[in-house]
Amino acid sequence: MTTEDKKSKVKLRSAEWFGTQDKNGFMYRSWMKNQGIPDHEFQGKPIIGICNTWSELTPCNAHFRKLAEHVKKGIIEAGGWPVEFPVFSSGESNLRPTAMLTRNLASMDVEESIRGNPVDAVVLLVGCDKTTPALLMGAASVDVPAIVVTGGPMLNGKLNGKNIGSGTAVWQLHEQVKAGEIKMHDFLAAEAGHSRSAGTCNTMGTASTMACMAESLGTSLPHNAAIPAVDARRYVLAHLSGMRIVDMVWEDLRLSKVLTKEAFENAIRVNAAIGGSTNAVIHLKAIAGRIGVDLELEDWTRIGRGTPTVVDLLPSGRFLMEEFYYAGGLPGVIRRLGEANLLPNPTALTVNGKSLWDNCLDAPIYDDEVIRPLDKPLIADGGICILRGNLAPRGAVLKPSAATPELMKHRGRAVVFENLEDYKARIVDPDLDVDASCILVMKNCGPKGYPGMAEVGNMGLPPKLLAAGVKDMVRISDARMSGTAYGTVVLHVAPEARAGGPLAVVQEGDFIELDCAAGRLHLDISDEELKTRLDAWAAAQTVDPADATGYRHLYVNHVLQADEGCDFDFLRGCRGSAVPRHSH
Ligand code: FES
Repeated sequence: MTTEDKKSKVKLRSAEWFGTQDKNGFMYRSWMKNQGIPDHEFQGKPIIGICNTWSELTPCNAHFRKLAEHVKKGIIEAGGWPVEFPVFSSGESNLRPTAMLTRNLASMDVEESIRGNPVDAVVLLVGCDKTTPALLMGAASVDVPAIVVTGGPMLNGKLNGKNIGSGTAVWQLHEQVKAGEIKMHDFLAAEAGHSRSAGTCNTMGTASTMACMAESLGTSLPHNAAIPAVDARRYVLAHLSGMRIVDMVWEDLRLSKVLTKEAFENAIRVNAAIGGSTNAVIHLKAIAGRIGVDLELEDWTRIGRGTPTVVDLLPSGRFLMEEFYYAGGLPGVIRRLGEANLLPNPTALTVNGKSLWDNCLDAPIYDDEVIRPLDKPLIADGGICILRGNLAPRGAVLKPSAATPELMKHRGRAVVFENLEDYKARIVDPDLDVDASCILVMKNCGPKGYPGMAEVGNMGLPPKLLAAGVKDMVRISDARMSGTAYGTVVLHVAPEARAGGPLAVVQEGDFIELDCAAGRLHLDISDEELKTRLDAWAAAQTVDPADATGYRHLYVNHVLQADEGCDFDFLRGCRGSAVPRHSH
Protein backbone atom coordinates (compact mmCIF):
# COMPACT_ATOMS: atom_id res chain seq x y z
CA MET A 1 0.00 0.00 0.00
CA THR A 2 1.40 3.43 -0.89
CA THR A 3 1.72 6.18 1.69
CA GLU A 4 -1.08 8.07 -0.10
CA ASP A 5 -3.33 5.00 0.19
CA LYS A 6 -2.53 4.75 3.88
CA LYS A 7 -3.26 8.43 4.40
CA SER A 8 -6.63 8.12 2.75
CA LYS A 9 -7.64 5.41 5.23
CA VAL A 10 -6.67 7.23 8.43
CA LYS A 11 -8.99 9.71 10.08
CA LEU A 12 -6.88 12.04 12.19
CA ARG A 13 -8.27 12.66 15.65
CA SER A 14 -6.81 16.18 15.49
CA ALA A 15 -9.33 16.90 12.70
CA GLU A 16 -12.01 16.74 15.40
CA TRP A 17 -10.55 20.02 16.66
CA PHE A 18 -9.21 21.76 13.59
CA GLY A 19 -11.14 20.27 10.68
CA THR A 20 -14.44 22.08 10.88
CA GLN A 21 -15.47 25.51 9.52
CA ASP A 22 -17.67 26.45 12.45
CA LYS A 23 -17.56 28.13 15.84
CA ASN A 24 -15.63 25.29 17.46
CA GLY A 25 -13.07 25.06 14.64
CA PHE A 26 -12.64 28.83 14.83
CA MET A 27 -11.92 28.72 18.53
CA TYR A 28 -9.51 25.78 18.41
CA ARG A 29 -7.56 27.25 15.48
CA SER A 30 -7.65 30.89 16.47
CA TRP A 31 -6.01 30.46 19.86
CA MET A 32 -3.32 28.22 18.38
CA LYS A 33 -2.62 30.92 15.78
CA ASN A 34 -1.35 33.20 18.53
CA GLN A 35 1.84 31.14 18.28
CA GLY A 36 2.32 32.26 14.67
CA ILE A 37 0.94 29.13 13.05
CA PRO A 38 -0.15 29.59 9.41
CA ASP A 39 -3.39 28.22 7.96
CA HIS A 40 -1.79 25.38 6.04
CA GLU A 41 -0.60 23.70 9.24
CA PHE A 42 -4.24 22.91 10.01
CA GLN A 43 -4.87 21.20 6.68
CA GLY A 44 -4.59 17.54 7.62
CA LYS A 45 -1.04 17.26 8.96
CA PRO A 46 -0.63 14.66 11.73
CA ILE A 47 -0.17 16.51 14.98
CA ILE A 48 2.51 14.87 17.07
CA GLY A 49 2.63 15.58 20.79
CA ILE A 50 6.08 15.65 22.32
CA CYS A 51 5.45 14.64 25.87
CA ASN A 52 8.36 16.22 27.72
CA THR A 53 9.53 15.42 31.22
CA TRP A 54 12.10 18.23 31.09
CA SER A 55 12.75 19.80 34.46
CA GLU A 56 15.70 21.43 36.14
CA LEU A 57 14.58 19.58 39.25
CA THR A 58 15.00 16.30 37.38
CA PRO A 59 18.68 16.73 36.49
CA CYS A 60 18.72 13.49 34.51
CA ASN A 61 16.15 15.03 32.12
CA ALA A 62 17.43 18.62 32.20
CA HIS A 63 18.76 18.43 28.62
CA PHE A 64 15.39 17.48 27.14
CA ARG A 65 14.52 20.82 25.55
CA LYS A 66 17.41 20.31 23.15
CA LEU A 67 16.35 16.70 22.62
CA ALA A 68 12.83 17.90 21.80
CA GLU A 69 14.20 20.29 19.17
CA HIS A 70 15.73 17.37 17.30
CA VAL A 71 12.50 15.38 17.55
CA LYS A 72 10.67 18.37 16.09
CA LYS A 73 13.04 18.54 13.12
CA GLY A 74 12.26 14.93 12.31
CA ILE A 75 8.51 15.41 12.64
CA ILE A 76 8.55 18.45 10.37
CA GLU A 77 10.74 16.69 7.82
CA ALA A 78 8.24 13.83 7.65
CA GLY A 79 5.27 16.15 7.17
CA GLY A 80 3.93 16.35 10.70
CA TRP A 81 3.27 19.21 13.07
CA PRO A 82 5.07 18.94 16.42
CA VAL A 83 3.48 20.28 19.58
CA GLU A 84 5.55 20.03 22.73
CA PHE A 85 3.89 19.86 26.13
CA PRO A 86 5.17 19.35 29.67
CA VAL A 87 4.10 16.58 31.99
CA PHE A 88 4.86 15.92 35.62
CA SER A 89 8.53 15.01 35.98
CA SER A 90 9.21 12.46 38.72
CA GLY A 91 12.90 13.03 39.40
CA GLU A 92 14.59 10.34 41.40
CA SER A 93 17.36 12.31 43.01
CA ASN A 94 15.42 15.23 44.53
CA LEU A 95 11.81 14.23 44.96
CA ARG A 96 10.79 13.37 48.52
CA PRO A 97 9.66 11.11 50.05
CA THR A 98 10.25 9.11 46.85
CA ALA A 99 9.67 9.64 43.13
CA MET A 100 7.65 6.43 43.14
CA LEU A 101 4.91 8.26 45.05
CA THR A 102 4.24 10.36 41.95
CA ARG A 103 4.74 7.81 39.15
CA ASN A 104 1.00 7.19 38.97
CA LEU A 105 0.25 10.91 39.24
CA ALA A 106 2.52 11.53 36.27
CA SER A 107 0.83 8.74 34.34
CA MET A 108 -2.56 10.38 34.92
CA ASP A 109 -1.15 13.68 33.66
CA VAL A 110 0.15 11.95 30.52
CA GLU A 111 -3.06 10.06 29.85
CA GLU A 112 -5.37 13.05 30.23
CA SER A 113 -3.01 15.41 28.37
CA ILE A 114 -3.00 13.11 25.35
CA ARG A 115 -6.68 12.26 25.31
CA GLY A 116 -7.94 15.78 25.87
CA ASN A 117 -5.71 17.47 23.29
CA PRO A 118 -5.59 17.54 19.49
CA VAL A 119 -2.76 15.04 19.05
CA ASP A 120 -2.65 12.05 16.72
CA ALA A 121 0.42 10.41 18.23
CA VAL A 122 3.08 11.08 20.84
CA VAL A 123 6.81 11.00 21.31
CA LEU A 124 7.60 10.16 24.91
CA LEU A 125 10.74 11.90 26.19
CA VAL A 126 11.87 9.85 29.16
CA GLY A 127 15.00 9.32 31.19
CA CYS A 128 15.07 9.29 34.96
CA ASP A 129 13.71 6.09 36.51
CA LYS A 130 10.01 6.77 36.95
CA THR A 131 9.55 8.88 33.86
CA THR A 132 9.80 5.87 31.55
CA PRO A 133 7.07 3.74 33.15
CA ALA A 134 4.90 6.77 33.92
CA LEU A 135 4.78 7.91 30.30
CA LEU A 136 4.35 4.40 28.91
CA MET A 137 1.55 3.75 31.42
CA GLY A 138 -0.26 6.95 30.52
CA ALA A 139 0.15 6.51 26.77
CA ALA A 140 -0.91 2.85 26.99
CA SER A 141 -4.17 3.85 28.64
CA VAL A 142 -4.95 6.05 25.62
CA ASP A 143 -3.45 3.71 23.01
CA VAL A 144 -2.38 6.16 20.33
CA PRO A 145 0.76 5.59 18.23
CA ALA A 146 3.71 6.32 20.54
CA ILE A 147 7.47 6.11 20.38
CA VAL A 148 9.93 6.36 23.26
CA VAL A 149 12.98 8.61 23.03
CA THR A 150 15.22 8.23 26.06
CA GLY A 151 17.58 10.98 27.22
CA GLY A 152 20.52 8.61 27.42
CA PRO A 153 23.02 7.84 30.16
CA MET A 154 25.70 10.13 31.58
CA LEU A 155 29.30 9.71 30.58
CA ASN A 156 31.37 7.47 32.86
CA GLY A 157 31.89 8.93 36.31
CA LYS A 158 35.50 9.62 37.24
CA LEU A 159 37.29 9.66 40.58
CA ASN A 160 41.06 9.76 40.96
CA GLY A 161 41.52 8.59 37.39
CA LYS A 162 39.19 5.63 37.72
CA ASN A 163 35.64 5.04 36.52
CA ILE A 164 32.87 5.27 39.09
CA GLY A 165 29.25 4.37 38.52
CA SER A 166 26.16 6.40 39.35
CA GLY A 167 24.60 5.42 42.64
CA THR A 168 26.75 2.34 43.07
CA ALA A 169 29.72 4.56 43.97
CA VAL A 170 27.59 6.35 46.54
CA TRP A 171 26.75 3.10 48.38
CA GLN A 172 30.36 1.88 48.17
CA LEU A 173 31.99 5.15 49.22
CA HIS A 174 29.54 5.63 52.07
CA GLU A 175 30.28 2.17 53.41
CA GLN A 176 34.01 2.94 53.13
CA VAL A 177 33.48 6.10 55.19
CA LYS A 178 31.56 4.13 57.83
CA ALA A 179 34.25 1.46 57.88
CA GLY A 180 36.91 4.16 58.32
CA GLU A 181 38.58 3.31 55.01
CA ILE A 182 38.27 6.82 53.48
CA LYS A 183 37.85 10.33 54.88
CA MET A 184 34.69 12.42 54.63
CA HIS A 185 36.36 15.06 52.44
CA ASP A 186 37.26 12.34 49.89
CA PHE A 187 33.65 11.19 49.95
CA LEU A 188 32.37 14.70 49.28
CA ALA A 189 35.00 15.32 46.62
CA ALA A 190 33.57 12.45 44.60
CA GLU A 191 30.30 14.31 43.95
CA ALA A 192 31.36 16.26 40.88
CA GLY A 193 33.15 13.41 39.13
CA HIS A 194 30.22 11.13 39.87
CA SER A 195 27.81 13.15 37.68
CA ARG A 196 29.88 14.97 35.08
CA SER A 197 27.57 15.20 32.06
CA ALA A 198 23.93 15.43 31.15
CA GLY A 199 22.00 12.19 31.29
CA THR A 200 20.71 9.41 33.49
CA CYS A 201 22.59 7.13 35.87
CA ASN A 202 25.29 5.32 33.93
CA THR A 203 25.11 1.99 35.75
CA MET A 204 22.59 -0.72 34.92
CA GLY A 205 20.30 0.91 37.45
CA THR A 206 16.61 1.48 37.04
CA ALA A 207 16.87 4.24 34.44
CA SER A 208 19.13 2.17 32.17
CA THR A 209 17.07 -0.93 32.86
CA MET A 210 13.83 0.80 31.92
CA ALA A 211 15.48 2.24 28.80
CA CYS A 212 16.44 -1.34 27.87
CA MET A 213 12.92 -2.50 28.70
CA ALA A 214 11.43 0.16 26.40
CA GLU A 215 13.74 -0.94 23.60
CA SER A 216 13.16 -4.66 24.11
CA LEU A 217 9.40 -4.09 24.33
CA GLY A 218 9.71 -2.61 20.86
CA THR A 219 8.56 0.89 21.84
CA SER A 220 11.73 2.67 20.68
CA LEU A 221 14.12 2.58 17.77
CA PRO A 222 17.15 0.26 18.12
CA HIS A 223 19.99 1.64 20.25
CA ASN A 224 17.71 4.02 22.11
CA ALA A 225 18.75 2.61 25.48
CA ALA A 226 22.49 3.09 25.48
CA ILE A 227 23.66 6.01 23.31
CA PRO A 228 25.21 8.47 25.80
CA ALA A 229 23.14 11.57 26.46
CA VAL A 230 25.80 13.89 25.05
CA ASP A 231 26.70 11.78 22.02
CA ALA A 232 25.55 13.46 18.80
CA ARG A 233 24.03 10.15 17.74
CA ARG A 234 21.45 10.59 20.51
CA TYR A 235 20.17 13.62 18.63
CA VAL A 236 20.16 11.72 15.36
CA LEU A 237 18.05 9.04 17.03
CA ALA A 238 15.67 11.74 18.28
CA HIS A 239 15.41 13.13 14.75
CA LEU A 240 14.73 9.70 13.26
CA SER A 241 12.16 8.96 15.95
CA GLY A 242 10.39 12.19 15.02
CA MET A 243 10.30 11.10 11.41
CA ARG A 244 9.11 7.62 12.28
CA ILE A 245 6.20 8.67 14.49
CA VAL A 246 4.59 10.48 11.55
CA ASP A 247 4.58 7.27 9.52
CA MET A 248 3.21 5.42 12.52
CA VAL A 249 0.15 7.65 12.35
CA TRP A 250 -0.49 6.67 8.74
CA GLU A 251 0.11 3.01 9.60
CA ASP A 252 -2.16 3.29 12.66
CA LEU A 253 0.62 1.55 14.59
CA ARG A 254 -0.74 1.97 18.10
CA LEU A 255 0.92 0.90 21.34
CA SER A 256 -1.46 -2.04 21.69
CA LYS A 257 0.04 -3.59 18.54
CA VAL A 258 3.52 -3.37 20.09
CA LEU A 259 2.87 -3.96 23.79
CA THR A 260 1.73 -7.56 23.49
CA LYS A 261 2.31 -10.41 25.91
CA GLU A 262 5.06 -11.58 23.57
CA ALA A 263 6.81 -8.22 23.90
CA PHE A 264 6.72 -8.40 27.69
CA GLU A 265 8.16 -11.93 27.59
CA ASN A 266 11.02 -10.65 25.46
CA ALA A 267 11.61 -7.82 27.94
CA ILE A 268 11.72 -10.19 30.91
CA ARG A 269 14.33 -12.32 29.16
CA VAL A 270 16.35 -9.25 28.25
CA ASN A 271 16.17 -8.02 31.84
CA ALA A 272 17.88 -11.22 32.93
CA ALA A 273 20.53 -10.90 30.23
CA ILE A 274 21.39 -7.32 31.20
CA GLY A 275 21.26 -7.90 34.98
CA GLY A 276 18.45 -5.36 35.19
CA SER A 277 16.87 -3.71 38.18
CA THR A 278 14.24 -5.33 40.40
CA ASN A 279 12.16 -2.20 39.84
CA ALA A 280 11.39 -3.52 36.36
CA VAL A 281 9.18 -6.18 37.96
CA ILE A 282 6.89 -3.46 39.31
CA HIS A 283 6.98 -1.16 36.30
CA LEU A 284 6.41 -3.83 33.63
CA LYS A 285 3.47 -5.15 35.61
CA ALA A 286 1.99 -1.65 35.79
CA ILE A 287 2.49 -0.99 32.06
CA ALA A 288 1.04 -4.40 31.18
CA GLY A 289 -1.97 -3.68 33.36
CA ARG A 290 -2.70 -0.51 31.40
CA ILE A 291 -2.70 -2.25 28.01
CA GLY A 292 -4.58 -5.35 29.18
CA VAL A 293 -1.70 -7.85 29.17
CA ASP A 294 -1.78 -10.41 31.95
CA LEU A 295 1.67 -10.59 33.52
CA GLU A 296 2.36 -12.62 36.66
CA LEU A 297 5.28 -12.69 39.08
CA GLU A 298 5.85 -16.30 38.06
CA ASP A 299 6.47 -15.11 34.46
CA TRP A 300 9.75 -13.75 35.82
CA THR A 301 10.66 -17.23 37.05
CA ARG A 302 9.37 -18.99 33.93
CA ILE A 303 11.09 -16.72 31.43
CA GLY A 304 13.87 -14.98 33.31
CA ARG A 305 15.49 -17.60 35.53
CA GLY A 306 18.17 -19.70 33.94
CA THR A 307 19.06 -16.92 31.53
CA PRO A 308 22.76 -16.01 31.64
CA THR A 309 23.54 -12.40 32.48
CA VAL A 310 25.92 -11.39 29.70
CA VAL A 311 26.12 -7.63 30.19
CA ASP A 312 29.05 -6.92 32.49
CA LEU A 313 27.87 -3.62 33.97
CA LEU A 314 27.81 -2.21 37.48
CA PRO A 315 26.27 -2.83 39.95
CA SER A 316 26.65 -6.56 39.19
CA GLY A 317 29.72 -6.31 36.94
CA ARG A 318 32.50 -3.93 35.92
CA PHE A 319 31.57 -1.52 33.13
CA LEU A 320 29.19 1.40 32.53
CA MET A 321 26.60 2.41 29.95
CA GLU A 322 29.10 4.33 27.84
CA GLU A 323 31.10 1.14 27.30
CA PHE A 324 27.88 -0.77 26.75
CA TYR A 325 27.00 1.45 23.80
CA TYR A 326 30.48 1.24 22.31
CA ALA A 327 30.36 -2.55 22.71
CA GLY A 328 27.19 -2.83 20.63
CA GLY A 329 24.38 -1.81 22.96
CA LEU A 330 21.14 -3.64 23.47
CA PRO A 331 20.86 -4.93 19.87
CA GLY A 332 24.08 -6.87 20.56
CA VAL A 333 22.51 -8.49 23.62
CA ILE A 334 19.35 -9.38 21.71
CA ARG A 335 21.48 -10.86 18.95
CA ARG A 336 23.27 -13.05 21.52
CA LEU A 337 19.91 -14.24 22.86
CA GLY A 338 18.38 -14.81 19.46
CA GLU A 339 21.29 -16.80 18.10
CA ALA A 340 20.95 -19.18 21.05
CA ASN A 341 17.17 -19.44 20.61
CA LEU A 342 16.75 -17.59 23.89
CA LEU A 343 14.61 -14.78 22.52
CA PRO A 344 11.10 -15.96 23.42
CA ASN A 345 9.28 -14.12 20.63
CA PRO A 346 11.59 -13.00 17.83
CA THR A 347 8.71 -11.87 15.61
CA ALA A 348 7.32 -9.36 18.11
CA LEU A 349 6.58 -6.09 16.30
CA THR A 350 8.50 -2.91 17.09
CA VAL A 351 7.76 0.73 16.37
CA ASN A 352 9.87 0.83 13.21
CA GLY A 353 7.52 -1.73 11.68
CA LYS A 354 10.06 -4.54 11.83
CA SER A 355 10.30 -7.41 14.28
CA LEU A 356 12.65 -7.27 17.27
CA TRP A 357 14.77 -9.98 15.69
CA ASP A 358 14.92 -8.30 12.28
CA ASN A 359 16.28 -5.22 14.04
CA CYS A 360 19.00 -7.11 15.86
CA LEU A 361 20.03 -10.21 13.89
CA ASP A 362 23.04 -8.51 12.29
CA ALA A 363 23.89 -6.25 15.24
CA PRO A 364 27.66 -5.94 15.60
CA ILE A 365 29.29 -6.73 18.94
CA TYR A 366 32.61 -4.98 19.41
CA ASP A 367 33.63 -6.02 22.91
CA ASP A 368 33.14 -9.50 24.36
CA GLU A 369 34.19 -8.25 27.79
CA VAL A 370 31.19 -5.93 28.03
CA ILE A 371 28.63 -8.03 26.12
CA ARG A 372 29.95 -11.44 27.03
CA PRO A 373 29.37 -14.63 25.06
CA LEU A 374 26.64 -16.83 26.50
CA ASP A 375 29.16 -19.51 27.42
CA LYS A 376 31.21 -16.97 29.42
CA PRO A 377 28.46 -15.13 31.26
CA LEU A 378 28.84 -12.73 34.14
CA ILE A 379 26.19 -14.73 36.00
CA ALA A 380 25.21 -18.19 34.79
CA ASP A 381 21.68 -17.96 36.15
CA GLY A 382 20.52 -14.35 36.05
CA GLY A 383 17.03 -13.00 36.23
CA ILE A 384 14.94 -12.08 39.23
CA CYS A 385 14.28 -14.59 41.98
CA ILE A 386 10.62 -14.67 43.02
CA LEU A 387 10.06 -15.77 46.60
CA ARG A 388 6.91 -16.88 48.36
CA GLY A 389 6.10 -18.27 51.79
CA ASN A 390 4.28 -17.38 54.97
CA LEU A 391 6.34 -14.18 55.19
CA ALA A 392 5.43 -13.12 51.64
CA PRO A 393 2.17 -14.81 50.61
CA ARG A 394 1.89 -12.55 47.55
CA GLY A 395 5.54 -12.64 46.70
CA ALA A 396 8.88 -10.94 47.17
CA VAL A 397 11.88 -10.52 44.91
CA LEU A 398 15.66 -10.81 45.11
CA LYS A 399 18.25 -10.02 42.48
CA PRO A 400 20.68 -12.96 42.43
CA SER A 401 23.31 -11.14 40.38
CA ALA A 402 23.62 -8.52 43.15
CA ALA A 403 23.58 -11.08 45.99
CA THR A 404 26.23 -13.14 47.75
CA PRO A 405 25.80 -16.77 46.57
CA GLU A 406 26.47 -18.24 50.03
CA LEU A 407 23.67 -16.15 51.55
CA MET A 408 21.01 -17.13 49.04
CA LYS A 409 20.17 -20.11 51.25
CA HIS A 410 20.27 -18.87 54.80
CA ARG A 411 18.54 -19.17 58.18
CA GLY A 412 19.06 -16.33 60.58
CA ARG A 413 17.81 -14.46 63.61
CA ALA A 414 15.72 -11.40 62.81
CA VAL A 415 16.90 -7.97 63.92
CA VAL A 416 13.75 -5.91 63.42
CA PHE A 417 13.26 -2.23 62.62
CA GLU A 418 9.72 -0.85 62.68
CA ASN A 419 10.43 1.78 60.03
CA LEU A 420 13.27 3.68 58.36
CA GLU A 421 13.69 6.11 61.26
CA ASP A 422 13.95 3.23 63.72
CA TYR A 423 16.58 1.63 61.47
CA LYS A 424 18.62 4.82 61.19
CA ALA A 425 18.50 5.42 64.94
CA ARG A 426 19.58 1.94 66.00
CA ILE A 427 21.81 0.58 63.22
CA VAL A 428 24.69 2.75 64.44
CA ASP A 429 24.33 1.60 68.06
CA PRO A 430 27.46 -0.28 69.04
CA ASP A 431 25.34 -2.27 71.48
CA LEU A 432 22.88 -3.45 68.83
CA ASP A 433 22.49 -7.22 69.28
CA VAL A 434 23.50 -8.26 65.79
CA ASP A 435 26.07 -10.47 64.11
CA ALA A 436 26.79 -11.33 60.49
CA SER A 437 24.43 -14.32 60.52
CA CYS A 438 21.43 -12.20 61.50
CA ILE A 439 18.77 -11.02 59.06
CA LEU A 440 17.93 -7.30 59.05
CA VAL A 441 14.17 -6.79 58.75
CA MET A 442 12.55 -3.42 58.08
CA LYS A 443 8.80 -2.75 58.05
CA ASN A 444 6.50 0.02 56.84
CA CYS A 445 8.41 1.04 53.73
CA GLY A 446 5.94 -0.37 51.20
CA PRO A 447 3.48 1.42 48.88
CA LYS A 448 1.09 2.45 51.66
CA GLY A 449 3.53 2.39 54.54
CA TYR A 450 6.22 4.83 53.41
CA PRO A 451 4.11 5.90 51.45
CA GLY A 452 5.41 5.37 47.93
CA MET A 453 7.64 2.32 48.50
CA ALA A 454 10.97 4.11 48.73
CA GLU A 455 14.30 2.67 47.62
CA VAL A 456 15.51 1.97 51.13
CA GLY A 457 15.54 -1.84 51.08
CA ASN A 458 19.30 -2.08 50.76
CA MET A 459 19.84 -1.16 54.39
CA GLY A 460 23.45 -0.35 55.10
CA LEU A 461 25.12 -2.85 57.40
CA PRO A 462 25.84 -2.07 61.07
CA PRO A 463 29.05 0.01 61.21
CA LYS A 464 30.60 -2.32 63.76
CA LEU A 465 30.19 -5.27 61.37
CA LEU A 466 31.49 -3.24 58.40
CA ALA A 467 34.55 -2.35 60.46
CA ALA A 468 34.99 -6.05 61.17
CA GLY A 469 35.04 -6.75 57.44
CA VAL A 470 31.48 -8.00 56.90
CA LYS A 471 30.47 -7.22 53.30
CA ASP A 472 26.91 -8.53 53.07
CA MET A 473 23.98 -9.74 55.15
CA VAL A 474 20.45 -10.89 54.30
CA ARG A 475 18.05 -7.97 54.45
CA ILE A 476 14.25 -8.16 54.10
CA SER A 477 11.68 -5.40 53.68
CA ASP A 478 8.59 -4.26 51.83
CA ALA A 479 10.65 -1.48 50.22
CA ARG A 480 12.26 -1.27 46.81
CA MET A 481 15.97 -0.96 46.11
CA SER A 482 17.79 1.32 43.76
CA GLY A 483 18.86 -0.50 40.65
CA THR A 484 22.36 0.78 41.36
CA ALA A 485 22.50 -1.02 44.72
CA TYR A 486 23.63 -4.53 45.58
CA GLY A 487 23.53 -7.14 48.33
CA THR A 488 21.46 -10.14 49.39
CA VAL A 489 18.36 -8.06 49.68
CA VAL A 490 14.79 -9.37 49.70
CA LEU A 491 12.44 -6.66 48.46
CA HIS A 492 8.80 -5.96 47.60
CA VAL A 493 7.44 -8.25 50.34
CA ALA A 494 3.70 -8.45 49.69
CA PRO A 495 1.39 -7.76 51.30
CA GLU A 496 3.42 -4.99 52.89
CA ALA A 497 3.43 -4.45 56.65
CA ARG A 498 1.11 -1.42 56.49
CA ALA A 499 -1.45 -3.50 54.59
CA GLY A 500 -1.39 -6.18 57.27
CA GLY A 501 1.07 -8.57 55.69
CA PRO A 502 2.92 -11.02 57.95
CA LEU A 503 5.98 -8.77 57.78
CA ALA A 504 4.09 -6.50 60.20
CA VAL A 505 4.36 -9.04 63.01
CA VAL A 506 7.93 -10.27 62.70
CA GLN A 507 9.50 -9.93 66.11
CA GLU A 508 13.05 -9.49 67.32
CA GLY A 509 14.60 -12.93 67.70
CA ASP A 510 12.29 -14.77 65.28
CA PHE A 511 14.08 -17.02 62.84
CA ILE A 512 13.64 -16.59 59.09
CA GLU A 513 14.58 -18.97 56.29
CA LEU A 514 15.55 -17.77 52.83
CA ASP A 515 15.96 -20.32 50.07
CA CYS A 516 16.31 -18.71 46.64
CA ALA A 517 16.61 -21.96 44.74
CA ALA A 518 13.33 -23.16 46.23
CA GLY A 519 11.74 -19.68 45.96
CA ARG A 520 10.94 -19.73 49.68
CA LEU A 521 10.74 -17.06 52.37
CA HIS A 522 9.57 -18.50 55.67
CA LEU A 523 8.98 -17.03 59.11
CA ASP A 524 9.68 -19.84 61.49
CA ILE A 525 6.62 -19.60 63.77
CA SER A 526 3.45 -21.69 63.87
CA ASP A 527 0.34 -20.79 61.87
CA GLU A 528 -1.52 -20.27 65.15
CA GLU A 529 1.10 -17.88 66.47
CA LEU A 530 1.09 -15.96 63.20
CA LYS A 531 -2.70 -15.58 63.30
CA THR A 532 -2.67 -14.45 66.92
CA ARG A 533 -0.08 -11.79 66.15
CA LEU A 534 -1.91 -10.59 63.01
CA ASP A 535 -5.22 -10.28 64.89
CA ALA A 536 -3.54 -8.20 67.59
CA TRP A 537 -1.85 -6.03 64.94
CA ALA A 538 -5.15 -5.36 63.14
CA ALA A 539 -6.90 -4.38 66.37
CA ALA A 540 -4.23 -1.78 67.13
CA GLN A 541 -4.34 0.08 63.80
CA THR A 542 -5.32 3.73 63.43
CA VAL A 543 -5.35 6.10 60.44
CA ASP A 544 -2.24 8.26 60.03
CA PRO A 545 -3.47 11.90 59.94
CA ALA A 546 -0.96 12.61 57.14
CA ASP A 547 -2.93 10.20 54.95
CA ALA A 548 -6.29 11.84 55.61
CA THR A 549 -6.15 14.53 52.91
CA GLY A 550 -4.35 15.56 49.74
CA TYR A 551 -2.61 13.37 47.21
CA ARG A 552 -1.43 11.00 49.95
CA HIS A 553 -5.08 10.27 50.73
CA LEU A 554 -5.71 9.26 47.13
CA TYR A 555 -2.47 7.30 47.04
CA VAL A 556 -2.76 5.17 50.16
CA ASN A 557 -6.41 4.39 49.51
CA HIS A 558 -5.93 3.25 45.93
CA VAL A 559 -2.38 2.01 45.47
CA LEU A 560 -2.08 -1.69 44.72
CA GLN A 561 0.56 -3.94 46.21
CA ALA A 562 3.95 -4.60 44.63
CA ASP A 563 2.84 -7.85 42.98
CA GLU A 564 0.25 -5.81 41.08
CA GLY A 565 2.67 -3.09 39.98
CA CYS A 566 1.72 -0.44 42.56
CA ASP A 567 -0.67 1.18 40.08
CA PHE A 568 -3.86 2.76 41.34
CA ASP A 569 -6.76 0.33 41.30
CA PHE A 570 -8.86 2.76 39.23
CA LEU A 571 -6.17 3.38 36.60
CA ARG A 572 -5.69 -0.14 35.34
CA GLY A 573 -6.84 -0.76 31.82
CA CYS A 574 -6.96 1.09 28.51
CA ARG A 575 -9.60 3.81 28.24
CA GLY A 576 -8.86 4.52 24.60
CA SER A 577 -8.40 7.62 22.50
CA ALA A 578 -12.01 8.58 21.78
CA VAL A 579 -12.24 12.35 21.44
CA PRO A 580 -14.01 13.93 24.43
CA ARG A 581 -16.99 16.29 23.98
CA HIS A 582 -16.34 19.93 23.04
CA SER A 583 -15.05 22.29 25.72
CA HIS A 584 -17.32 25.18 24.74
FE1 FES B 1 17.75 10.01 37.55
FE2 FES B 1 19.35 7.91 38.32
S1 FES B 1 18.63 9.60 39.50
S2 FES B 1 18.44 8.32 36.40
